[in-house]
Amino acid sequence: MGNDRGSAGGRRRLYLAGGLVALGAALGVARYVVTRPQPPAGSPLPVDIAGLVPGKLLAIEWKGRAVWILRRSADEIAALAGYESELTDPQSLASLQPDACRNPHRSLRPEVFVAVGQCTHQGCPPQLKSGAGGRSEFLCPCHTSKFDLAGRVFRSGPAPANLVIPEYRFERESRLVIGEA
Ligand code: FES
Repeated sequence: MGNDRGSAGGRRRLYLAGGLVALGAALGVARYVVTRPQPPAGSPLPVDIAGLVPGKLLAIEWKGRAVWILRRSADEIAALAGYESELTDPQSLASLQPDACRNPHRSLRPEVFVAVGQCTHQGCPPQLKSGAGGRSEFLCPCHTSKFDLAGRVFRSGPAPANLVIPEYRFERESRLVIGEA
């Protein structure tokens, strides 16, 4: 009888210890989510995009590096689906972007794409290559990494992550501010 009570108490302690381990693991996951790397910010730069037509890429310099602004056409937006299994990080879980841009377009508005124009492998500047049916892409000539028009990297190349998206906001319909959330 005494032994039964002793073993029941032991089981309770075991369950309690297991519960604490599970709670610790859950807190560990929450801490990881909160402390994930954040995209670059600072030195706000206003950019007028009124003259940016669909399919056109505007490159500006911000904080010593190229930032691209691409106005995607309706075909290009529609083409950003259906090949997620070919991508390294289709949900952008391990890539750098503002939280508001963690979506299939990786942008605040589907038609306007903003990204740092540096390959995430060794920093070379990828080039925009036009493709049929809106399937254009950014090709890095250094070691042939490819990114789609949302900056999502294909598994076929060595680049480990999607293109970085900086903080930005729309000041008005045709004016962006780069570096400000
Ligand atoms: S720097 Fe782009 S693939 Fe190596």
